[in-house]
Amino acid sequence: MAVNYVLAFLLICTPFMVAFAGNLYQDVGITWGNGRGNILNNGQLLTLSLDRTSGSGFQSNSQYLYGKIDMQIKLVPGNSAGTVTAYYLRSEGLSWDELDFEFLGNLSGHPYVVHTNVYTQGKGDREQQFYLWFDPTADFHTYSFLWNPAHAVFYIDGRPIREFKNLESEGVPYPKNQAMRLYSSLWNADDWATRGGLVKTDWTQAPFTASFRNFKASGCVWSNGVSSCKSNSSASDNAWLSQQLDNTNQKKLKWVQKKYMIYNYCNDVKRFPQGLPLECTVRTKS
Ligand SMILES: *[C@@H]1O[C@H](CO)[C@@H](O)[C@H](O)[C@H]1NC(C)=O
Ligand SMILES: *[C@@H]1O[C@H](CO)[C@@H](O)[C@H](O)[C@H]1NC(C)=O
Repeated sequence: MAVNYVLAFLLICTPFMVAFAGNLYQDVGITWGNGRGNILNNGQLLTLSLDRTSGSGFQSNSQYLYGKIDMQIKLVPGNSAGTVTAYYLRSEGLSWDELDFEFLGNLSGHPYVVHTNVYTQGKGDREQQFYLWFDPTADFHTYSFLWNPAHAVFYIDGRPIREFKNLESEGVPYPKNQAMRLYSSLWNADDWATRGGLVKTDWTQAPFTASFRNFKASGCVWSNGVSSCKSNSSASDNAWLSQQLDNTNQKKLKWVQKKYMIYNYCNDVKRFPQGLPLECTVRTKS
């Protein structure tokens, strides 16, 4: 009897709760992991977990062609060596565009590495890596992409850490024709992630869990070949669409790059014996 009441309650109330539950139920879907990814707290929190059998992942329901995407993430705490939490925008097909954050775990007390990359038309090889100026496992921090026709900027807590400018006029491909979706996943890469693969995952610590909340997309939603921005060019709502890095933000970017950048492909002359990629050597006005 009691069981029947509970079932009836769930059947009646579940659609109601989902409809009013807040945004993660509406904005994203868990795509893999067989129960290891979960949306909780009426859609306010999402967790991904990883164990020896599998990791897990989710993706945004919408695709964007330009956007400002924010999400708060709390990374796997403790001994997270060998784990990778990926958070990225990506289009489909063989000639895809992609903007990547990958958070490489570490032994307790040792620093995470924030690995970033930019792919245009299927070609990447544009890695930049950073340490963080805080413990990313102690609390939630905001990780953002700003992608507009002028540049793609990676932000952490509102601070730009990387800018990829539109240098198409100089012959560098720029992502501008293909809509991208937000993806995130937690997986194991102990063959390369921590100290180049020297430190392996300690599976006695599993399951490993990363948490996500406050997904916010001020994007041009792309649907059936039409952008939500083209039909409505009222600028006020879309300030991000023409946003540049002002002096203050240029300074913030330089501060991070000076103090926390640990790898920059643009400085890796050995890796590019034929010469550095074009975007590394083009002189720009700013
Ligand atoms: C892990 O810690 C080591 C030693 O402190 C450091 O060299 C490395 O960059 C850290 N991060 C990763 C992902 O290996
Ligand atoms: C355009 O956007 C503004 C502000 O968001 C909104 O008030 C208006 O209704 C929109 N117009 C159309 C045609 O969608």
